[in-house]
Amino acid sequence: MRILVTGGAGYIGSHVAALLHERGDTVRVVDDLSKGHVEAVKGPGLIRADLRRPQELEAAFSGGPWDAVIHLAASSLVGESMEAPARYYENNVVGGFHLVEAMRRHGVTRLVFSSTAAVYGEPERVPIVEEEPPRPTNPYGATKLAFEEMLHWYGEAYGLRSVSLRYFNVAGADPDRGLGEDHHPETHLIPILLEVALGQRERFQVFGDDYPTADGTCIRDYIHVLDLAEAHLLALDHLARGGASRTYNLGNGAGFSVREVCEAARRVIGRPIPTVVGPRRPGDPPVLVASSERIRAELGWVPRRPSVEEMIESAWHWRLAHPDGFPAKGRGEPGKAPQGA
Ligand code: UFG
Repeated sequence: MRILVTGGAGYIGSHVAALLHERGDTVRVVDDLSKGHVEAVKGPGLIRADLRRPQELEAAFSGGPWDAVIHLAASSLVGESMEAPARYYENNVVGGFHLVEAMRRHGVTRLVFSSTAAVYGEPERVPIVEEEPPRPTNPYGATKLAFEEMLHWYGEAYGLRSVSLRYFNVAGADPDRGLGEDHHPETHLIPILLEVALGQRERFQVFGDDYPTADGTCIRDYIHVLDLAEAHLLALDHLARGGASRTYNLGNGAGFSVREVCEAARRVIGRPIPTVVGPRRPGDPPVLVASSERIRAELGWVPRRPSVEEMIESAWHWRLAHPDGFPAKGRGEPGKAPQGA
């Protein structure tokens, strides 16, 4: 297949693009490189394009036909979205709109979308099933939900078929392929714990220990980035077989508190990780744990790396090999391919 992967130079997208390329698909990564890294694109072509700019998208779609799009490019931080909702509406909704319009112009009718557990807000029942009514508690979740709804109506009217994958907390790395997580600034739990273990930060701050959970800290469902990446290939193949539009949760169905993840990191890394308790981070729901029964039953997805220790260990190995992350970025010209096609 010939696949465009938006956001394919980012943490999750680079793992997805690498697996597709390895199985023999023709892959073009479409990324504005505002957050992504040229060095994370190993094998596929790469074109720099900002989804908010239709002319740049035209260049990204050149050289088709393309069979499908995997859409991961987005702003994706809960905390930041509370302070800068405009950025979230612009990147995730306006950018998403230009993308589906470009697909329509170019006759591309299949899309796999990187959605999020943040659409659920504070769910009534845990583990969360896809039928749970979405009620996001932050602009990040709200903008991802808005795009899911756009996909629904584009499906009804224009025949677009899509799979929305609602990711829970993605963690781990693929050190064998030289891929890992590198954000500036880093806000995610596990990479921050690694930075503290490396002495790059003094201590780890727990965002609130007065939540209604056993130890008072937030509970999340962690999923290995490679298990998540494999789900994208299954979703793509489902659409290629003529499968209908679907929405799937992706998690392990097991919740770990912030304190439990800190303990696991201490065990795996064997170094001290000093912590301090701070205030809650606005927008954080207390508990997010997935039921992923639907994608297991319908697409045969099986998470092969469910242990949090294994996620931390793989992330730690990548980090030891790249203590400062990927090298400084080469940005290239919009619409031009810094490498390949
Ligand atoms: N946390 C801390 N201290 C920190 C960083 C995080 O206590 O310095 C806590 C957070 O409060 C939260 C947990 O660790 O309870 C996990 O936080 P992350 O920032 O790693 O991840 P989030 O749960 O905020 O969000 C992630 C993705 C979202 C996705 C969500 C779904 O970034 O895109 O998982 O569960 F929507």
